[in-house]
Amino acid sequence: MKDKVFFDQQDGAKDKSLEPTKAGQVMWGGRFTKPPHRLVAAFNASVHFDKRLALYDIAGSTAHARMLANQGIIDREDARKIIDGLAKVRDEVDAGEFVWKEELEDVHMNVEHRLTDLIGPVGGRLHTGRSRNDQVALDMHLYVREELRAISELTDKLQQVLLLCAEANIDVIIPGYTHLQRAQPVLFSHHLLAYFWMLERDKGRLDDALLRADMMPLGAGALAGTTFPIDRKQVADELGFAQIYENSMDAVSDRDYLIETLSALSIIMMHISRLSEELILWSSTEFSFVELDDAYTTGSSIMPQKKNPDVAELARGKTGRVYGHLQALLTTCKGLPLAYNKDLQEDKEGIFDAIDTVKIVLEVFGGMIETLQVRRDNVAVALEGDFSAATDMADYLVQKGVPFRQAHEIVGRIVRYCVDHQKPLVALDASELKAHSDYLDVDVLARLTPQAVVAARKSRGGTSLSAVREQLERAHKVIQD
Ligand code: ARG
Repeated sequence: MKDKVFFDQQDGAKDKSLEPTKAGQVMWGGRFTKPPHRLVAAFNASVHFDKRLALYDIAGSTAHARMLANQGIIDREDARKIIDGLAKVRDEVDAGEFVWKEELEDVHMNVEHRLTDLIGPVGGRLHTGRSRNDQVALDMHLYVREELRAISELTDKLQQVLLLCAEANIDVIIPGYTHLQRAQPVLFSHHLLAYFWMLERDKGRLDDALLRADMMPLGAGALAGTTFPIDRKQVADELGFAQIYENSMDAVSDRDYLIETLSALSIIMMHISRLSEELILWSSTEFSFVELDDAYTTGSSIMPQKKNPDVAELARGKTGRVYGHLQALLTTCKGLPLAYNKDLQEDKEGIFDAIDTVKIVLEVFGGMIETLQVRRDNVAVALEGDFSAATDMADYLVQKGVPFRQAHEIVGRIVRYCVDHQKPLVALDASELKAHSDYLDVDVLARLTPQAVVAARKSRGGTSLSAVREQLERAHKVIQD
């Protein structure tokens, strides 16, 4: 009976997959008698996903090296070699020629190792006064800062598309719903503009997350600061950071800005998902309010007639995974003692995926909305003969002095009468009206067309054409700022 099931296979193992990595390959090997087990190396490694931080890592290292020289911590000549070497590494990464090695664990050690390959042992001076803990925090801040800006721009573009679509269909009336039951008719443009304002708040949340992403952690060292006379302000200025973390322990363990980013992204996805649901409904045969462009739909492998709103469905589906990343990171950070813990390496894949997802969704939605056609004829038919003018009939009675509650009751009975007699409100004659209330004259009927109902809602933020035009004006102003 063996006394170990896995571990003893390290030496002379028959199973080659369980062999250890070769000695001397790890950059922190000094204290160790043997390298990590092959499985441990694979488990620990993050390079397969954090290599996407390479250019930020190199930018951060370049600023760090320059500061070290300015402060007389390393030689100017050494710093020059390091900075030139880093530029070569960057070119290799840019060209896709960089050879990533899992045994070097992460992006930081891959870059540093290659630097030392290229310029010799002087490369080893780069890590003076720095730890991977503040280094990875710096890389993530740089990465997220840039992505937040990019996502804000894409959000802005989608808003512009919503404005164009609203303007192109400004006077089209569709049923407005509450509880997904016909409520009151609204302008299609008004409905679409609701999403414009959601996205406007989303940009506010992205900006807010940016405030906290725009903070420089480098100089925190492993957790306690450094013995070298570094100048953090210099590095922050070179990298364009607005603020510097005031506490080294906070700097290396803070992931709030990532959680805020994931939260902002989750809310964007929630909005997109609601819009998706509407587009899916609206493009169904039952609604037929819109027709999505062929380029933004897909077919069925068996049913030749199908034209499916996959883009909207997929966006609705991907919302769940973005929420998942938010939940995952909140859970990862919960209960972590200060300062850095390896758990924090788990911050990356989720945020990378959430950012990639939101970016492609915003782009593809822009195109889908830009090309959708509103089916004006179908929409007009949809409005015929429903009871969504009932509130206006009650409002008419109120204007004649009837208390609103009483007016509500009277019109409720009229609707019941119409349902029983299978006729729309506008088909009621004078005697039928009078039978329900002395205050009802035939002039009420003119108020009950969808056009009249919409036009009457002139209150600020309402659905009348004039109010929507004002809204559009405000929207244009907001987006120009
Ligand atoms: N790959 C690590 C991460 O993503 C970098 C920091 C590692 N620090 C450490 N002390 N092991 O968090």
